Amino acid sequence: MTAPEQDAPPLTDVEIWPLLGVRVRSGDLELRAPDDRTLLDLARLAARGVHPPDYMPFLVPWTRGTPVQVARSVMTYQWGLRQRTTPADWAIELAVLHDGVPVGTQGMYAKDFAVTRSAETGSWLGLEHHHKGIGTRMRLLILHLLFEGLGAEHATTSAFVDNPGSSGVTRKIGYRPNGVLHQAREGGAVESRLYVLDRADWDARRDDLRLDVEMEGVEALRDQLGLSAAS
Ligand SMILES: CC(C)(COP(=O)(O)OP(=O)(O)OC[C@H]1O[C@@H](n2cnc3c(N)ncnc32)[C@H](O)[C@@H]1OP(=O)(O)O)[C@@H](O)C(=O)NCCC(=O)NCCS
Repeated sequence: MTAPEQDAPPLTDVEIWPLLGVRVRSGDLELRAPDDRTLLDLARLAARGVHPPDYMPFLVPWTRGTPVQVARSVMTYQWGLRQRTTPADWAIELAVLHDGVPVGTQGMYAKDFAVTRSAETGSWLGLEHHHKGIGTRMRLLILHLLFEGLGAEHATTSAFVDNPGSSGVTRKIGYRPNGVLHQAREGGAVESRLYVLDRADWDARRDDLRLDVEMEGVEALRDQLGLSAAS
């Protein structure tokens, strides 16, 4: 190990944790890594409801329980994700800010991405923000980060067959069907539909799909994820 240089300036936040510098923005919508203050806001939002109570869109039913239980599960889950930011395995959930207010999360997940160039996405919005087009726009922002920023070749997603919001976003963007899984949801069998969007589909739909997107901090993130030429 090399001795620290006496006169070297202190490491910046982004040198230590590049993800903190990432911004993906289009108009009034922005994706950025949540700090603890933002996580608390997301926890309060989730405690007010993420979906109607008679429906469960998630395999792990983290939205059941008292408001405080739901809020704490947002905190512990998000803290746990922070250690999955390595080239071999990343699970990155960015906060979705609408006019600067946290309205949900948009995640991307991959194992061995440098080899497979394939990542899965997943998301939620506070119930009060559903059905206003935000879900489609935030998916397009993460797809922009994956395809344009990180060099993805494939983006995958899945939803239970009875999830109209998630399926609606996937249909509008033009993913292809990619199989089904039979899973257990709260003790009952449910079909999960899998979808894929390849780079060729993304490129072909360039004009229809692409929002006017600004990205910041992506080169440093590529380095953190082992994707830059030097790493
Ligand atoms: C999935 C989710 C993020 C979608 O976000 P959203 O902002 O509500 O979606 P959008 O407004 O962009 O809608 C996309 C399409 O789906 C349709 N849609 C959305 N919600 C719908 C609903 N409840 N019923 C029927 N159609 C719906 C919209 O009409 C739209 O299609 P259109 O433009 O042709 O009308 C949001 O519904 C959500 O957070 N759900 C709970 C968590 C969840 O299901 N996460 C995904 C787990 S796989």
